[in-house]
Order: sequence, then structure tokens, then C-alpha cells
Amino acid sequence: MIPGIRGTRDILPAEVGRWQRIERVAADVCARYGYAEVRTPVIEREELFAKGTGETTDIVQKEMYAFTDKGGERITLRPEATPSLVRAFVEHSLEQELAFSKLYSVGPMFRYERPQKGRYRQFHQLDVEVFGIADAAIDGEVIEMASTFIAELGVERTELVVNSVGCAACRPGFSAALLEALGQRVSELCRDCQRRAETNPLRIYDCKVPADQPVIDELPHSEDYLCEACQTHFAETKCHLDAYGLSYHVSHRLVRGLDYYTRTTFEILGADLGAQNALLGGGRYDNLVKQLGGPDRPGIGFAAGLERLALALPERVADIRTPDAFVVALGADAWPEARMLARDLRRQGLHVLIDYGGRSSKSQMKRANRSRARHMLILGGDELASHQVTVKEMETGHQQRVARDEVVTTLGS
Ligand code: HAM
Repeated sequence: MIPGIRGTRDILPAEVGRWQRIERVAADVCARYGYAEVRTPVIEREELFAKGTGETTDIVQKEMYAFTDKGGERITLRPEATPSLVRAFVEHSLEQELAFSKLYSVGPMFRYERPQKGRYRQFHQLDVEVFGIADAAIDGEVIEMASTFIAELGVERTELVVNSVGCAACRPGFSAALLEALGQRVSELCRDCQRRAETNPLRIYDCKVPADQPVIDELPHSEDYLCEACQTHFAETKCHLDAYGLSYHVSHRLVRGLDYYTRTTFEILGADLGAQNALLGGGRYDNLVKQLGGPDRPGIGFAAGLERLALALPERVADIRTPDAFVVALGADAWPEARMLARDLRRQGLHVLIDYGGRSSKSQMKRANRSRARHMLILGGDELASHQVTVKEMETGHQQRVARDEVVTTLGS
């Protein structure tokens, strides 16, 4: 046996129902809010993420699956979807085509992280992006849509956290204040934080090492260093959230692990998920589209981790669709008619199973029980002669003969 790769998972029949439900609700919510689906390749040029996600991020520095292909090109398995959607938006001039540049995508992402519950090396995201809208009304709407998505899935006990990380005008002042406050204390922090202090000091707020927390707790808050325009934008965003009746709290530590964010950042956290508790995260990125060679358009979006949503879905969500019927043929003569019956019922929309290999009626019935089908449809000599089928309701054991073309009605009742 050749086992699967560490950090990857097979989504097995017992849980695939949860995934299908998540994907259905995602597509439905996105459509209702005016988003068009795009599907981009899993492989992209390495430079897209170096430039997009950011050279100083953990993702680019430590976690990318990158390789040189046979043509000598540097290729990356995408670690996130935002740069890919920006690329597709720019490359195909989608702005000309759509009333609003609202796009979404669902698919696998790859990060070479240390696997644990809720953190994998191949995982899946619903990614939602809006391009070209500067108004804080879209910040409000995107966050409201994220909350609606989580609520429609039936995930309970979640927490919405928001922050503003400022813009190119006010961020340098904040970073300087942060470095000054850190001062000599950098040496008291963990090795990762010491590296962050050199490359991207904001990232220190992400640190979860317990011994570092007393130092981090005393660091300045980004909200206190916002320029006037960023302050106004943040105040307006919060007004929209209040108007939607969303409860949230502002956390100055929500700086997010990617380089492109400006102004609004947000996350929805789930209970009972342990350390990896972010169900989704996102924010505004007003310079990324231009930085990746496109027109000067602001952007905002979020990505939800489908593995974490699947873990957080309440138990009552049915995982497997049980078959409507299992067709049993009694004796060799009954097989052709049994197969036609299965075909006809399937064409009429029923979930129907039937056995193969001409096995005995006893072993067919055993398999019917294992399939948890709601009915057994039995065809023997008598039934063939009278154009009837014996319908047995598995739960009650109740059995009746019905005309062949009334089977669908009987199963539906
Ligand atoms: P992110 O915070 O890196 O943001 O990922 C978003 C979500 O993906 C996380 O909240 C989590 O649910 C899930 N996730 C991330 N890494 C893993 C992993 N290793 N295993 C399982 N789930 C994971 C982004 O990716 C940004 N592109 C979001 C965004 C879109 N910002 C603006 N637009």
C-alpha cells in the first residue's frame, strides 16, 4: 500500500455530504449577492505569489510548493486564490464584461505547513473578491455576506473580529511606533518574532507563543495611528456592520498574515476548533491589482477554509443520502426486467441500487440491508407474469404488490 501524503486528506463517503452541502450553500449565497464564478488553474508562476502574497510572508518564505518544470519555468501550486483571481481579472479585462467586478472561486490550495487539526498541506477555500469599489458600503456587505454564509450553514457560536491596518500613508508611522515600542525588548521574543521585527514587524501581533504575550500586549494599536481617511473608512465600515445588526469586536492584533492588506481586516472564528479556529479571513487590498500590473482598482474579499467549516458543521446535517430502493431479482429470468426497472426509476429521479453477477436472492437481500435503502423492490416469476413489483418498506417490513408503472408513486408516498 502506498499511503497518501502527510497533510493531505481523502474526503470519504461518510463526510462528502457535508462538503456537498457547504459547496451548495457557497454557490447559492454567492449568486444571491451578485458574484460570478471563475475557475483558475492550480498552478501559477511563482512570481505571482512572491509579488502578490508578499516576499516577507510566511507563505512565500516557508510554505510554497514551488518547483522548476521541464521547460525551466518556476511554477507554484497556489497557496491562496487572491493573486490568481486578480490575475484573471486583469488578464481577461473582466471589468468590461461585468456590471460589478464580484468574483468567487472554490478549490484546493497548497501550503507546506505543520499539519494539525484544521491545518493541512492541501486544503480547500471558498474565495470571494470584489474589485473597483472604494466605498465602505462594500466592506460592510462583504462582511455581512460572510456572516450570512456561516449562518446559513448552521454553524453556531462564532465570533466576528475586525480591525484596520491603515494604508501606505499611515502604516509607516505605525510601523515606526511599533519598532520604537519594541526597542530592546526584541531579544525577549521568540526566534520567529525576531525575524519578523527585521522583515515585517506587524506580523509580531500574530505570535501565539505564550512567553511573548506580555511584551506584545504593551505594543501600540494600529487604530491609534490611522490617517484621517483611514479613520473615516473604518468608522463607516463599523456603521454598516451596526446597521446590519452584526455583533463584532475590534482587535488590534488582527493584522493578518499576508502583505497586501490595507484598511479593513476581518475574521470569523469558530468555537471548538482548537488553535486553528479561523473559519474565514479577509480584508481590503487597495494596491494589489495595480501592483500585479492591472488598473488602479481597490479590492476586498475573504477566503473560508472548507475543512474547518466541515469540522464546525452541526451533527444534524445528514452526511449520506440513503438510496430510495434496492432492486432484487429472484431467479435468472428476472434479471433483464430488474435492470430495466432500475433504469426507469433512475431516469425518473430516484436513487436506486441493483446487484451484479447473478448472485443468490439471499446475498442480494443482505446487500440491500447493508445499503440502508428505504425499500426493497422484488421481482420474481409471479411479478413478471403480472407486470407487478413487490415493494417492501424496510423500516416497517410492510409489503405490497403494485403495478410496475405505479412504483414511483408508491415510493413517493
Ligand atoms: P488566509 O487567512 O490565509 O487568507 O486563509 C483563509 C482561510 O483559509 C483561513 O481562515 C482558514 O479557514 C483556511 N486555511 C488557511 N490555511 C489553511 C490550512 N493550512 N489548512 C486548512 N485551512 C486553511 C487568504 O488565503 C486570503 N487569500 C483571504 C482573502 C481573500 N483576503 C482577501 N481576499
